[in-house]
Amino acid sequence: MFNRLESEEINIAGEIPKEDTARQYFYIEKCKELYRKDPSHNTYCLTTFGCQMNEKQSEVIAGIMDEIGYRRIETEDADIVIYNTCTVRENANLKVYGRLGLLHNMKKQKKEKKIILFGCMMQEEHVVNKIRNDYRFVDLVFGTHNIYRFAELFYHMMTGEQQVIEIWEGTDKIVEDLPAERNYDFKSGVNIMFGCNNFCSYCIVPYVRGRERSREPEAIVEEVTRLVKDGVTEVMLLGQNVNSYGKTLENPVSFAELLEKVEAVQGLKRIRFMTSHPKDLSDELIAYMAKSKKVCHHLHLPMQSGSSRILKEMNRRYDKEKYLSLVEKIRKAIPDISLTTDIIVGFPGETEEDFLETIDVVNKAGFDTAFTFIYSKRTGTPAAKMENQIPEAVVKERFQRLLSTVQEKGREISSRFVGTVQEVLVETESKDPGIFTGRTQYNLLVHFPATPDLEGKYVNVHLDECKGFYYLGTRVDPLQ
Ligand code: SAH
Ligand code: SF4
Ligand code: F3S
Repeated sequence: MFNRLESEEINIAGEIPKEDTARQYFYIEKCKELYRKDPSHNTYCLTTFGCQMNEKQSEVIAGIMDEIGYRRIETEDADIVIYNTCTVRENANLKVYGRLGLLHNMKKQKKEKKIILFGCMMQEEHVVNKIRNDYRFVDLVFGTHNIYRFAELFYHMMTGEQQVIEIWEGTDKIVEDLPAERNYDFKSGVNIMFGCNNFCSYCIVPYVRGRERSREPEAIVEEVTRLVKDGVTEVMLLGQNVNSYGKTLENPVSFAELLEKVEAVQGLKRIRFMTSHPKDLSDELIAYMAKSKKVCHHLHLPMQSGSSRILKEMNRRYDKEKYLSLVEKIRKAIPDISLTTDIIVGFPGETEEDFLETIDVVNKAGFDTAFTFIYSKRTGTPAAKMENQIPEAVVKERFQRLLSTVQEKGREISSRFVGTVQEVLVETESKDPGIFTGRTQYNLLVHFPATPDLEGKYVNVHLDECKGFYYLGTRVDPLQ
C-alpha cells in the first residue's frame, strides 16, 4: 500500500520532514507508535456523505487508518467515528447533526471514544462555530483543503486534551501519493481536478471546495496505471466540471487529450467520467467519445432547469435551446449514448411556466435517469438572497409531477435495450442470494444469476426485462 516511502526509511526520532507527503508518512509512523502503546483502542467507523469525490477522499482516510493499525467496522460503537460531510443541500447537514446527538450519548458511556468531522460542511464558518460552542465533545475538525494532513492532525488529537480544529480558507496544493483503501477491487474513482469556478447561483460547492485545480496528466496516468496493476479495469474520472480540465495547467491539456492518455493504459477496459457542464462540452470530446474503444457511452449532463430564464438566474451560461441542440449533436455522433441529468425544482422565482419548460426538456431529451432535487437554500450563495423563494407545498407538488415524468420517460428510454445482449461488469451480490448486480457500459444496472467468482469480471448478459431503473437478465457466456 505504501507507494513511495517504505516505513523502514522513516526515522521518527529525527526531524519532521518538510515535504508534504513525506511529512504525513512520518506522522503515520508516529501514530503507529501510539497505537502499539494502547492496541485496545482499535476500531473505527467511517461514513461518507456527499458525492463520489468525497468517497474518493474517504478512501485516503481509510488507507491511513488501516496503515496505522485500526480495524474498520460498520457500527458507530467503534472507538473512533469519522464523518466525511457534505453540505450541498440542507438535509445533508441535518443528517450529521442528528447523528452527532446519538454519538454524544455513546461518548458519555465511553470517554475514550473519538469523534472526527471533516469535509465540505466544515468549510462553513457557522458550522464550525456551532461545533466549537455546542459540540465540544467532537475531537477533531478539518475541512476540504487540508485532508492530506489527516495523519498529522490525528496525532495531535491523540496526544492532546483540546478539541483540534484546522480549517484552511483555500489552497493551491495537490498532494499526491498518500495511502488509500479502495471500496472495490475492480473499479475506482480517480480525482482529476478539485474545486469549481462556476459559481452557479444556488450552489455552495465553489465556496467549500475552493478554486478549480487540475492534477497533472502524468500523475493521473500514473495512478490509473497503478490501479490497473492492482486489478482495476474500470475508472471514473472525477471533477465538478471535467470539461474544463487542464485549462489552468502550466502546459494546458484538454479533457479529450487526457482521455486519450488514460485510454493508452494497457489492461484498462472502461473509462467513465463525471460531471460534464453543458457550457464547456466540446466537439473534440464528443468526437473522441465516438471513436474511443474504452470511454463508455454514458454522459451525465446536468441541465438543472429547462427554463432559459431560470438558467440565466442560475448562472449556468446556456439556455434551453442550447441544451437541446447539444443533446441532438451528441446523439448524432454517438447514437447509442445514454444520457442522465440533474434537475432542481423550486429555484427562487420559478413559475408554473418555467417548470413546464423543464418537463418539456425531460420529454424531448430522452434521459435514461434524472436525479431530481428540491431547491435548498444555501447560506452565502446569491440565490439565498433572491426574493420569491417558492412555498414548500408548491415545490413538493411540482417535484412529484417531475418525478412521474422522469420515471415514465426513463422506463421508455431505458427499455430500448431489452432483448439485446450486453457486456456487463459483475459488481456485487444483491439481497437475493445468487443474484448479482452489474452495469452495462451505459451505466444501466442489470440483475442476473451468477457466482461470486465472477465478481469483477465481464460477462455477456441477455437483457430479458426492464424494471424501470434496472434490468433482469440471463448470462449468455463469460467473456473472460
Ligand atoms: N458540478 C456538478 C454538480 C455538483 S452538485 C454540475 O455542475 O453538474 C450535484 C447536484 O446537486 C447539482 O447538479 C444540482 O442539481 C444539485 N444541487 C446543487 N446545489 C443545490 C441546491 N442548493 N439545492 C438543490 N440541489 C442542488
Ligand atoms: Fe456547483 Fe455549478 Fe460548480 Fe456544479 S458547476 S459544482 S453546480 S457551482
Ligand atoms: Fe457535497 Fe462537497 Fe460533494 S458539498 S456534493 S460532498 S463537493
